[in-house]
Amino acid sequence: MTVGQHEVIAIAAALGDTYGIGYQQDLPWSIPGDWEWFQRITTKPYTSDTTLERYSFEKDSDWHNIVIMGRLSWESIPMQQRPHHNRYNIVVSSQASYNVHAVEKWEHATLVNSIQDALALATQLKKNHGRIFILGGEQIYRQMIGQDTPHCTHILLTHIQHTPSPSPPTPARLQLGSKYDETADDTLCNNNNSNKIECDTFFPSIDPAHFRTASHQELQLFVQESVPSGLQIHDPFQYEFRLYVRRE
Ligand SMILES: NC(=O)c1ccc[n+]([C@@H]2O[C@H](COP(=O)([O-])OP(=O)(O)OC[C@H]3O[C@@H](n4cnc5c(N)ncnc54)[C@H](OP(=O)(O)O)[C@@H]3O)[C@@H](O)[C@H]2O)c1
Repeated sequence: MTVGQHEVIAIAAALGDTYGIGYQQDLPWSIPGDWEWFQRITTKPYTSDTTLERYSFEKDSDWHNIVIMGRLSWESIPMQQRPHHNRYNIVVSSQASYNVHAVEKWEHATLVNSIQDALALATQLKKNHGRIFILGGEQIYRQMIGQDTPHCTHILLTHIQHTPSPSPPTPARLQLGSKYDETADDTLCNNNNSNKIECDTFFPSIDPAHFRTASHQELQLFVQESVPSGLQIHDPFQYEFRLYVRRE
């Protein structure tokens, strides 16, 4: 699939109100609904052929889509789930001898030493019904949506809010291009308050000059399935699926 003249390269990420994405080499939350969504949209084939809707794989190394991630995100995948099953995993590291096959020789994982090599390999391997997803973490996301590195065409984000009890949540204050105003909302990420999500890695600011917010219908068309609309609840979190599209 292409958008204009560009191959679709989609970021997939979940982030809190302060743009936080990680803490101590792990996710700062556990939200099954988001995790299942992430697994499904990065694994399934993208085709109008309805016979492929109920897709199945014979073994973990079979795949439709390609996922690219930094070495630290790779290491944060639990060993028994590594590489991400049923996706071709490209791991980016500056270490030429870094071994992504430490446990066994995986057919669907490989090491590259630069973002450019990752994108070149992904483009070369990509299948007809497949897409390329960027899975983070912070370092990789920054290099994918930076002004000088306009690699990604779409950003699939799960916006997560922590809902401290008993007060009701404050409205999301993530706006495209905005900076988090720590003084404006005392329910958000701050390492000194138990009601707040502790984070040490962050998603970059999304520049509205380069990305627009897509409608919910556009999101559904992009992922080729029905997507729950509005805030979803997984106590103590609320979350929402959104899509941002690079302006032509
Ligand atoms: N919420 C989410 O959706 C989400 C998604 C993914 C990850 N995360 C979280 O994000 C955190 C990890 O993010 P991170 O920023 O610390 O690490 P990262 O981006 O996953 O990986 C960083 C590593 O990638 C390699 N790298 C980056 N740019 C490179 C380049 N241009 N050329 C060659 N190698 C390059 C380097 O490996 P070497 O040091 O080996 O050279 C670098 O140390 C974890 O907490 C994880 O749980 C959250």
